[in-house]
Amino acid sequence: MTNRKEIPEGVTLIDHPLIQHKLTHMRKKDTHSINFRQLLREISQLLGYEVTRNLPLTNVDIETPVAKCISPILEGPNICIFSILRAGEGLSQGLLDLIPSARVGHVGLYRDPKNLQAVEYYFKAPSDLEARFCLVVDPMLATGNSAISAIDQIKRAGAKDLRFLCLLAAPEGLKALRKAHPDVHIYTAAIDDRLNEKSYIVPGLGDAGDRIFGTQ
Ligand code: URA
Repeated sequence: MTNRKEIPEGVTLIDHPLIQHKLTHMRKKDTHSINFRQLLREISQLLGYEVTRNLPLTNVDIETPVAKCISPILEGPNICIFSILRAGEGLSQGLLDLIPSARVGHVGLYRDPKNLQAVEYYFKAPSDLEARFCLVVDPMLATGNSAISAIDQIKRAGAKDLRFLCLLAAPEGLKALRKAHPDVHIYTAAIDDRLNEKSYIVPGLGDAGDRIFGTQ
Protein backbone atom coordinates (compact mmCIF):
# COMPACT_ATOMS: atom_id res chain seq x y z
CA MET A 1 0.00 0.00 0.00
CA THR A 2 1.58 3.16 1.36
CA ASN A 3 5.20 2.63 0.44
CA ARG A 4 4.62 2.18 -3.28
CA LYS A 5 2.24 5.13 -3.73
CA GLU A 6 3.25 8.37 -5.29
CA ILE A 7 2.71 11.20 -2.82
CA PRO A 8 0.85 14.09 -4.48
CA GLU A 9 1.97 17.68 -4.07
CA GLY A 10 0.57 19.29 -0.94
CA VAL A 11 0.35 15.96 0.89
CA THR A 12 2.62 14.75 3.70
CA LEU A 13 2.72 11.03 4.46
CA ILE A 14 3.59 10.50 8.13
CA ASP A 15 4.69 6.87 8.06
CA HIS A 16 6.75 6.57 11.22
CA PRO A 17 7.26 2.87 12.13
CA LEU A 18 5.26 3.27 15.37
CA ILE A 19 2.34 4.69 13.40
CA GLN A 20 2.47 1.91 10.81
CA HIS A 21 2.58 -0.73 13.56
CA LYS A 22 -0.41 0.71 15.43
CA LEU A 23 -2.34 1.25 12.20
CA THR A 24 -1.92 -2.41 11.21
CA HIS A 25 -3.58 -3.42 14.49
CA MET A 26 -6.38 -0.92 13.87
CA ARG A 27 -7.03 -2.33 10.39
CA LYS A 28 -7.59 -5.88 11.67
CA LYS A 29 -11.30 -6.67 11.68
CA ASP A 30 -11.12 -8.43 15.05
CA THR A 31 -9.59 -5.48 16.92
CA HIS A 32 -12.06 -4.52 19.65
CA SER A 33 -13.28 -0.91 19.87
CA ILE A 34 -11.51 -0.49 23.24
CA ASN A 35 -8.17 -1.18 21.57
CA PHE A 36 -9.15 0.64 18.38
CA ARG A 37 -9.90 3.86 20.32
CA GLN A 38 -6.71 3.62 22.34
CA LEU A 39 -4.57 3.04 19.23
CA LEU A 40 -6.24 5.96 17.45
CA ARG A 41 -5.54 8.21 20.43
CA GLU A 42 -1.87 7.16 20.44
CA ILE A 43 -1.51 7.61 16.68
CA SER A 44 -3.17 11.03 16.79
CA GLN A 45 -0.52 12.21 19.25
CA LEU A 46 2.24 10.99 16.93
CA LEU A 47 0.55 12.64 13.94
CA GLY A 48 0.00 15.83 15.93
CA TYR A 49 3.71 16.03 16.62
CA GLU A 50 4.42 16.23 12.87
CA VAL A 51 1.51 18.48 11.93
CA THR A 52 2.57 21.09 14.49
CA ARG A 53 6.27 20.90 13.62
CA ASN A 54 6.51 24.44 12.20
CA LEU A 55 4.24 26.32 14.59
CA PRO A 56 5.69 29.74 15.43
CA LEU A 57 7.57 30.21 18.69
CA THR A 58 8.32 33.27 20.75
CA ASN A 59 11.09 33.76 23.31
CA VAL A 60 10.37 34.46 26.97
CA ASP A 61 12.62 35.32 29.90
CA ILE A 62 12.63 32.57 32.51
CA GLU A 63 14.68 31.59 35.51
CA THR A 64 15.79 28.00 36.05
CA PRO A 65 17.07 26.86 39.46
CA VAL A 66 20.55 27.59 38.06
CA ALA A 67 20.35 30.75 35.93
CA LYS A 68 18.23 33.26 34.05
CA CYS A 69 17.79 32.50 30.34
CA ILE A 70 15.68 33.16 27.27
CA SER A 71 13.64 30.17 26.18
CA PRO A 72 11.00 29.49 23.45
CA ILE A 73 7.29 28.86 23.96
CA LEU A 74 4.45 28.60 21.44
CA GLU A 75 3.35 32.01 20.20
CA GLY A 76 -0.07 32.31 21.82
CA PRO A 77 -3.07 29.99 22.32
CA ASN A 78 -3.98 30.15 18.65
CA ILE A 79 -4.87 26.63 17.58
CA CYS A 80 -8.33 25.38 16.73
CA ILE A 81 -8.91 21.68 16.15
CA PHE A 82 -11.97 21.07 13.99
CA SER A 83 -13.49 17.66 14.48
CA ILE A 84 -15.70 16.39 11.66
CA LEU A 85 -18.40 14.47 13.53
CA ARG A 86 -18.50 11.86 14.47
CA ALA A 87 -15.29 9.97 13.64
CA GLY A 88 -13.17 13.13 14.00
CA GLU A 89 -13.68 12.82 17.76
CA GLY A 90 -11.35 9.82 17.73
CA LEU A 91 -8.49 11.99 16.44
CA SER A 92 -9.26 15.18 18.36
CA GLN A 93 -8.95 13.55 21.80
CA GLY A 94 -5.32 12.58 21.28
CA LEU A 95 -4.51 15.98 19.79
CA LEU A 96 -5.98 17.66 22.87
CA ASP A 97 -3.70 15.51 25.06
CA LEU A 98 -0.83 17.06 23.10
CA ILE A 99 -2.17 20.63 22.85
CA PRO A 100 -4.49 21.10 25.85
CA SER A 101 -4.90 24.84 25.23
CA ALA A 102 -6.36 24.33 21.74
CA ARG A 103 -9.93 25.42 21.05
CA VAL A 104 -12.21 22.84 19.47
CA GLY A 105 -14.72 23.43 16.71
CA HIS A 106 -17.24 20.86 15.46
CA VAL A 107 -18.68 20.26 12.02
CA GLY A 108 -21.54 17.78 11.88
CA LEU A 109 -21.89 16.06 8.52
CA TYR A 110 -23.34 12.80 7.34
CA ARG A 111 -23.04 11.09 3.99
CA ASP A 112 -26.31 10.94 2.07
CA PRO A 113 -26.40 7.20 1.23
CA LYS A 114 -28.03 7.90 -2.16
CA ASN A 115 -25.64 10.42 -3.68
CA LEU A 116 -22.76 10.22 -1.12
CA GLN A 117 -22.81 14.00 -0.77
CA ALA A 118 -22.04 15.55 2.64
CA VAL A 119 -25.10 16.96 4.42
CA GLU A 120 -24.48 19.50 7.20
CA TYR A 121 -26.41 19.25 10.48
CA TYR A 122 -24.18 21.12 12.98
CA PHE A 123 -21.50 23.83 13.05
CA LYS A 124 -19.88 25.42 16.09
CA ALA A 125 -16.59 27.33 16.11
CA PRO A 126 -14.72 29.94 18.13
CA SER A 127 -15.40 33.49 16.94
CA ASP A 128 -11.79 34.53 16.26
CA LEU A 129 -10.91 32.02 13.54
CA GLU A 130 -8.96 34.56 11.42
CA ALA A 131 -6.17 34.55 14.01
CA ARG A 132 -6.05 30.80 14.47
CA PHE A 133 -4.23 27.89 12.89
CA CYS A 134 -7.07 25.46 12.16
CA LEU A 135 -6.46 21.75 12.06
CA VAL A 136 -9.40 19.91 10.50
CA VAL A 137 -9.51 16.24 11.46
CA ASP A 138 -11.33 13.17 10.18
CA PRO A 139 -9.77 9.69 10.26
CA MET A 140 -10.93 8.73 6.75
CA LEU A 141 -10.43 10.79 3.59
CA ALA A 142 -12.55 8.72 1.17
CA THR A 143 -14.39 10.65 -1.58
CA GLY A 144 -13.28 13.95 -0.03
CA ASN A 145 -16.87 15.29 0.01
CA SER A 146 -17.07 15.68 3.82
CA ALA A 147 -13.64 17.28 4.10
CA ILE A 148 -14.38 19.71 1.25
CA SER A 149 -17.74 20.68 2.71
CA ALA A 150 -16.32 21.07 6.25
CA ILE A 151 -13.46 23.25 5.00
CA ASP A 152 -15.91 25.34 2.91
CA GLN A 153 -17.84 26.10 6.11
CA ILE A 154 -14.75 26.74 8.23
CA LYS A 155 -13.44 29.20 5.63
CA ARG A 156 -16.84 30.91 5.47
CA ALA A 157 -16.59 31.33 9.26
CA GLY A 158 -13.33 33.25 8.76
CA ALA A 159 -10.45 30.75 8.94
CA LYS A 160 -7.44 31.53 6.74
CA ASP A 161 -4.75 29.08 7.84
CA LEU A 162 -5.95 25.49 7.58
CA ARG A 163 -4.45 22.02 7.49
CA PHE A 164 -6.26 18.70 7.14
CA LEU A 165 -5.28 15.61 9.10
CA CYS A 166 -6.51 12.08 8.49
CA LEU A 167 -5.41 8.57 9.26
CA LEU A 168 -6.14 6.93 5.91
CA ALA A 169 -6.58 8.57 2.53
CA ALA A 170 -7.83 7.19 -0.76
CA PRO A 171 -6.15 8.61 -3.89
CA GLU A 172 -9.60 9.81 -5.03
CA GLY A 173 -10.09 11.84 -1.84
CA LEU A 174 -6.62 13.36 -1.98
CA LYS A 175 -7.21 14.47 -5.56
CA ALA A 176 -10.65 15.96 -4.84
CA LEU A 177 -9.56 17.81 -1.69
CA ARG A 178 -6.40 19.20 -3.31
CA LYS A 179 -8.49 20.43 -6.26
CA ALA A 180 -11.16 22.08 -4.09
CA HIS A 181 -8.79 23.56 -1.50
CA PRO A 182 -5.24 23.75 -2.89
CA ASP A 183 -4.20 26.02 0.00
CA VAL A 184 -4.93 23.30 2.59
CA HIS A 185 -2.00 20.95 3.22
CA ILE A 186 -3.02 17.34 3.87
CA TYR A 187 -1.34 15.05 6.40
CA THR A 188 -2.07 11.33 6.38
CA ALA A 189 -0.61 8.20 7.95
CA ALA A 190 -1.32 6.06 4.87
CA ILE A 191 -2.49 6.26 1.28
CA ASP A 192 -4.58 3.19 0.46
CA ASP A 193 -5.38 1.65 -2.90
CA ARG A 194 -8.82 2.91 -3.92
CA LEU A 195 -12.50 3.29 -3.04
CA ASN A 196 -14.94 0.42 -3.47
CA GLU A 197 -18.46 0.72 -4.96
CA LYS A 198 -19.79 1.90 -1.58
CA SER A 199 -17.03 4.51 -1.32
CA TYR A 200 -15.24 2.65 1.46
CA ILE A 201 -11.47 2.83 1.45
CA VAL A 202 -9.78 -0.41 0.30
CA PRO A 203 -8.22 -2.09 2.21
CA GLY A 204 -9.03 0.57 4.82
CA LEU A 205 -10.35 -0.35 8.23
CA GLY A 206 -14.12 -0.28 7.71
CA ASP A 207 -16.39 2.40 9.14
CA ALA A 208 -14.20 4.46 11.46
CA GLY A 209 -17.15 5.85 13.46
CA ASP A 210 -18.59 2.40 14.06
CA ARG A 211 -15.22 1.03 15.06
CA ILE A 212 -14.50 3.91 17.47
CA PHE A 213 -17.90 3.88 19.10
CA GLY A 214 -18.72 0.16 18.81
CA THR A 215 -21.90 0.77 16.85
CA GLN A 216 -21.47 -1.89 14.17
N1 URA B 1 -15.61 6.48 6.06
C1 URA B 1 -15.24 5.43 6.82
O1 URA B 1 -15.47 5.40 8.02
N2 URA B 1 -14.60 4.41 6.20
C2 URA B 1 -14.32 4.40 4.89
O2 URA B 1 -13.70 3.45 4.40
C3 URA B 1 -14.73 5.52 4.13
C4 URA B 1 -15.38 6.54 4.74
